[in-house]
Amino acid sequence: MSLKIGDTAPDFKAQTTEGKINFYDWLAGSWGILYSHPADYTPVCTTELGRTAHLKEEFARRNTKVAALSVDSLESHQGWVKDINETQSCTVEFPIIADPDKKVANLYGMIHENASDSLTVRSVYFIGPDKKIKASITYPASTGRNFHEILRVIDSLQLTANFKVATPADWKEGDEVVIAPAIKNEEIPSQFPKGHRVVKPYLRYTPQPNR
Ligand code: BEZ
Repeated sequence: MSLKIGDTAPDFKAQTTEGKINFYDWLAGSWGILYSHPADYTPVCTTELGRTAHLKEEFARRNTKVAALSVDSLESHQGWVKDINETQSCTVEFPIIADPDKKVANLYGMIHENASDSLTVRSVYFIGPDKKIKASITYPASTGRNFHEILRVIDSLQLTANFKVATPADWKEGDEVVIAPAIKNEEIPSQFPKGHRVVKPYLRYTPQPNR
């Protein structure tokens, strides 16, 4: 099954390194990141999980909970976490889902058979408080993910959920944003009191409204 933007993120129960979770209950009203790893005790995955642990405060600031997954057992995860903490100088405190029967991986379409029929690719699902998929990105096993980009996407999703704007290429928190095409010129002053500039009728910039 392949999940698309706007689909409901499937609920599931799973064993994790932080205890048994029911995904929806665990998410509660937060934003969520569910991301998959090809296998335990592998180099790129080890660095990614360490990076996630170091970014704990950044995710918390964004009211975003993170859960990792690989299709290995809980015992394997528990041993691997010790290695991650040791080699990446961190403390992994987010759940790593054990999915040896590939139940969750299949629910989320994380196994791409033409890459590997037994391991997941590096999927990232961004899930909103309404449990809908807001974005997803996918990398092959050989490419470690860019966590600046993951945080940047959360910032964009949270901003555009609250204001009628979109974020242009390479946007980062604090940069100008573009005014949504649906907004009429006459509506701009009341909706964007910080000002705006018009480059073309369809290309209108305004300072980030929530700063
Ligand atoms: C890694 O995490 O380093 C990795 C995992 C599976 C295949 C290739 C690399």
